[in-house]
Amino acid sequence: MEEAISSSPSTRLALVTGGNKGIGLEVCRQLAGNGVTVILTARDETRGTAAVENLRALRLSNVIFHQLDITDGSSISRLSDFMKSRFGRLDILVNNAAFGGVEYARDPAYTSVTSEEELSGMDRDQRLEWLWINSQETYDAAKKGLQTNYYGTKYVIEALLPLLQASSDGRIVNVSSDFGLLRKRGAEARAERRWQTHRGEAGRAAGHVPEGL
Ligand SMILES: NC(=O)c1ccc[n+]([C@@H]2O[C@H](COP(=O)([O-])OP(=O)(O)OC[C@H]3O[C@@H](n4cnc5c(N)ncnc54)[C@H](OP(=O)(O)O)[C@@H]3O)[C@@H](O)[C@H]2O)c1
Repeated sequence: MEEAISSSPSTRLALVTGGNKGIGLEVCRQLAGNGVTVILTARDETRGTAAVENLRALRLSNVIFHQLDITDGSSISRLSDFMKSRFGRLDILVNNAAFGGVEYARDPAYTSVTSEEELSGMDRDQRLEWLWINSQETYDAAKKGLQTNYYGTKYVIEALLPLLQASSDGRIVNVSSDFGLLRKRGAEARAERRWQTHRGEAGRAAGHVPEGL
């Protein structure tokens, strides 16, 4: 099946990190549906190949899998070598893989913020409230969040940058949350901080946030 994948310069080539589920999988589906050749990456081979099979069942044959754990240097090198030898360029890098940076109090094994059962039917504020009540900001979770979301993403960009520069129109798309918007440096940021302060006070009252934070 992989042999059928086009690497001609006229076909756009996108690589998505954390493409096996959630927003990453939907990004892969929409890119492939628009004629872009997609390298769907996932840290777990079984989950990644299953995602590719699901997309192929939707008649999206222009998707291939490659393993990538963004916190693992040798995994990043293997992907970069594969891209160099197989395609020699990359047009779109979608940095989607991330760790939420919190631990969930209700079920320690629960690591996704996309639970349909828990979050369906809630508006944005209700979702934030649910997350606030059910999560804990621990040192270990913050460390893992930095290792994955900042350093992991940075190392992937550094490894793939020469391939993006080899493209006539290389671009990087970083998936983030609205808390990362630069425009939130002004009045909107102050309003958001007031909301955060309010949530912090409510959290402390409920015993979720230590004094001083
Ligand atoms: N959902 C939201 O409401 C929301 C809001 C704001 C921002 N975002 C951002 O949107 C992006 C996707 O969110 P999502 O809700 O779709 O998350 P998700 O369902 O939890 O999916 C996260 C993806 O990242 C992968 N991943 C985690 N650590 C990785 C690592 N070390 N190496 C490679 N892949 C790794 C996961 O793989 P496994 O399946 O192996 O765990 C999974 O494929 C994230 O960047 C997130 O910050 C989401």
